Amino acid sequence: MIIAIDGPAASGKGTLARRLADHFGLRHLDTGLTYRAVAASLLANGLPLGDEAVAIEVARHLDLAQMDKTVLAAHEIGEAASRVAVLGGLREELVNLQRRFAQTPPGAVLDGRDIGTVVCPDASVKLFVTASPEARARRRTEELLSKGQEANYASVLADLMRRDERDSQRTVAPMKQADDAVLLDTTEMDIETAFQAAVEIVSRARDA
Ligand code: CDP
Ligand code: CDP
Repeated sequence: MIIAIDGPAASGKGTLARRLADHFGLRHLDTGLTYRAVAASLLANGLPLGDEAVAIEVARHLDLAQMDKTVLAAHEIGEAASRVAVLGGLREELVNLQRRFAQTPPGAVLDGRDIGTVVCPDASVKLFVTASPEARARRRTEELLSKGQEANYASVLADLMRRDERDSQRTVAPMKQADDAVLLDTTEMDIETAFQAAVEIVSRARDA
C-alpha cells in the first residue's frame, strides 16, 4: 500500500503522514526534508541556490537516515527549499530516491507537494490536506516557538503565502490536488479529529 499526502505548508500533512504510517504499519517519508536537506547543504557551503549541477550532486549523496528534522525545520531553510524546488533536474534526482523508498515493502506514506501527481500517481490512496492560511500560520508560529526558534505570526503568514504561491505557480511539478485525491480541510479540526478522518478515508479506499 502507498499513501500519497500533499498540501500546502503547515497544513498538518507531515503529522498525519507519520501517524497514518504508524497506524497501518507502513514506512514514512517526509519528501519536504529531501528538498530542505539539499537547500541546507547549499546554504552551509555558501553556494547559490540556483546552481542546479551542484544541487544534483548534493542530492545524489543524500542519506535519508541522516536528515535531521529539527535542524532542517528552520524557517529560512523552508524558504530556500522552495527556491531549489523549481529546478527540474534536481527534482528528477529526488523523485527517483522518493520512488525507491515508496516501492520498498511493506509500502509507505509519503507527504509533499507532488506525491499524488508525479512521484506516486498510482498510489492506493491520495489525500490533499489544506487549512486556511491563518490557521496554518498560527500552527507554524506555535510550532517554531515551541522549538525555541524565533517566530512572529505576521511574518510567518506572509512567508507561507509567498511559498505557497511559488510552489503552486512553478512550471515543474507544481503543488496541485490530483484528480483522484480526497480533499481534507483541517481548518476547524485538531490533529486527533483530522487523523480519525484520514484513517476513515484510507480504510475505505483499502477495502474498496
Ligand atoms: O507537514 P506540514 O508542514 O503540512 O505540517 P505539520 O508539521 O504536520 O504541522 C504543523 C504544526 O501544526 C504541527 O505543530 C502540528 O501539531 C500542528 N497541527 C495542528 O495543530 N492541528 C492540525 N489539524 C494539524 C497540525
Ligand atoms: O513543512 P512545510 O510544509 O512547510 O514544507 P516542506 O514540506 O518541508 O517543503 C519545503 C519546500 O520543499 C516546499 O515549500 C516545496 O517548495 C518543496 N517541496 C516540493 O517541491 N515537493 C515536495 N514533494 C516536497 C517539498
